[in-house]
Amino acid sequence: LRHLTTLENLPRETIERLLDRAEALRDACAHGTRKLDILAGRTVLNLFFEPSTRTRTSFELAARRLGADVINFDIGLSSTSKGEELFDTLHTLEAMHLDAIVVRHKQSGTPDELVRHAMSGVSVINAGDGNRAHPTQGLLDALTIRQHRPDFENLSVVICGDIKHSRVARSDINALSTLGVREIRLCGPAELMPTAEEMPQGRRCSDFDQAIEGADAVIMLRLQKERMASIDLPDEAAYFNHYGLDRRRLALAAKGCLVMHPGPINRGIEIATDVADGAQSRILEQVGNGVFVRMAVLNEVLAR
Ligand code: CP
Repeated sequence: LRHLTTLENLPRETIERLLDRAEALRDACAHGTRKLDILAGRTVLNLFFEPSTRTRTSFELAARRLGADVINFDIGLSSTSKGEELFDTLHTLEAMHLDAIVVRHKQSGTPDELVRHAMSGVSVINAGDGNRAHPTQGLLDALTIRQHRPDFENLSVVICGDIKHSRVARSDINALSTLGVREIRLCGPAELMPTAEEMPQGRRCSDFDQAIEGADAVIMLRLQKERMASIDLPDEAAYFNHYGLDRRRLALAAKGCLVMHPGPINRGIEIATDVADGAQSRILEQVGNGVFVRMAVLNEVLAR
């Protein structure tokens, strides 16, 4: 791979190779080699036009653990605020001989636009674009599930919440369907569900009690209010009542059902505190896996 902008159409062997490498890198770090020198002399730029806690920090940590130099581009202090266009910013940064750009942008398709406009051999990694793709989140979610339930062909996975605006849902569906998950169920209010044309995969279910019955993993999504200008938001208490994950609902799932959330979580809106912090929660494992998955992706695109 030279770039990673989406998991759509990525072959199963490539996804499995990245997950295997993430685990190998995790073992290398866990065995005392906290910092490797695989990417010594390489430079990675974090270019985040939207806020991030997990993705940005873990890409930085991943690059540093591989021995790369990291630049965290501060959009607020950059010449973007003086009207510089995205592609002029790109070419300016490329002139400083970067090896990889990790980009997050509210506009779907921006990472592919950067690939098309890049003039150097820089690799582009998508850290989330609009509602289109968040490929490293899809990979880390697949890795987290695989660590507990490698028998993908037997699994039912529920994704619940604001699926319409979710790049995580799209990348999770891409990864999990490519890896052979038996069934993906999609649940959420009608106004927050994409059309079947926009998202042909997944079995739709508007009743969360029915959707979660017998599920092996449930991935909860937050309401992405920042992408909802034209939607009448549901009252939060009513939303939790219909689509929130609490202990009663979790008891309807299969025994040991994995509770997942890409974060940030909104306690009491899409997930109850005792479930988010409970024994079945894998939310912080997802965060930890994010570092190793991002190390694997940086290693993959820069190994040339
Ligand atoms: N999951 C995720 O993308 O979180 P951040 O927005 O904190 O990076």
